[in-house]
Amino acid sequence: MDAHAASDTAPRSGPDGGPRTEAGTTARRRFHGVLGAVVLLLVGGALAGCGDAGEPVVNVYSHRHYDTDEALFQRFTEETGIAVRVVSASADELMARLEREGAASPADLLITVDAGRLHRAKERDLLRSVSSRELDRVIPAAYRDPEGFWYGLTLRVRILAYARDRVDPADVQTYESLTDERWAGRIVARSSENIYNVSHLASILAAHGPEVAEAWVRGVVANFARPPQGNDTDQIRDVAAGVGDLALVNTYYVGRLLDAEDEASRELADRVGVIFPNQGGRGAHVNVSAAAVTRHAPNAANALRLLEFLVSEEAQRAFAEGNFEYPVREGVAWAPTLQAWGEFRADPLPLSRLGELNNEAVRIFDRGGWR
Ligand SMILES: [Fe+2]
Repeated sequence: MDAHAASDTAPRSGPDGGPRTEAGTTARRRFHGVLGAVVLLLVGGALAGCGDAGEPVVNVYSHRHYDTDEALFQRFTEETGIAVRVVSASADELMARLEREGAASPADLLITVDAGRLHRAKERDLLRSVSSRELDRVIPAAYRDPEGFWYGLTLRVRILAYARDRVDPADVQTYESLTDERWAGRIVARSSENIYNVSHLASILAAHGPEVAEAWVRGVVANFARPPQGNDTDQIRDVAAGVGDLALVNTYYVGRLLDAEDEASRELADRVGVIFPNQGGRGAHVNVSAAAVTRHAPNAANALRLLEFLVSEEAQRAFAEGNFEYPVREGVAWAPTLQAWGEFRADPLPLSRLGELNNEAVRIFDRGGWR
């Protein structure tokens, strides 16, 4: 492991990111020269990153709340002896909490979704830059922050969900074609406040510039079947129920419905098809779930170790099977549902750009009238 905090080490951190201790100070007084230095390292190593009970620990603030993640954390503890303590809450709550706690925060690793949101956390000085040869080797450059502030764990694609009995996929092969008159009164969407929509518009902004992006917003709004409402799953349900014929949603929501325990959900999902847009051009919009070591992490080295574990083949396989997400690591098998949808071309835009264009995208949604 090539573990070190590149940009800043919190003043209270010891050699591997754990707290400097009184024991270390005592040792320094008692021993001198080389022997003293060795003892100091051993003491520091034994105490760094320990929790109240004295065991090594990593504190995770997670917006993901899947059984898969819990099982993975357990595996990590078995393998490393490092206990994983998880605080689960919404992304906004976790970020507000990090801000409130400041330097006293126990959080080591923030796990959340969407590059736009991670960019916001970086801007608010909640994250720290870390580097790791393993992370750089395994995660494609487009799916991590160029300065090491966050690293993608899984990928999701913003696809078009369509009513199989009312839409010919040949008629809607691009995001841009959603503004065609033929879709008047037929598109359902969620609010523009949602980060998935903001990041998607940022990708359109990157591809076409602000004028075309605003015209696109106006064109899609003009085709709405109803005012924006609900979450991604609600959009899929509304397409299946005939409220509208087309919706922009993330892949894993369709996967979850197709695999749902209740037959009604599965039947509903069967009525909806999936289109990967822009395959003849820049590719479909992709985003990440990602992890970031926090600005004041008391156990930064353990956090980095967990991050590296989460992109191991074992963890990536579990992600792929558990939540219908695409592994960020190449060569890991996709869930059968995703395999059935086939290969696709992804927009190669580095996701850090989505964050940079986030604020402009929000303004364009406002101007274009997408509530
Ligand atoms: Fe989601």
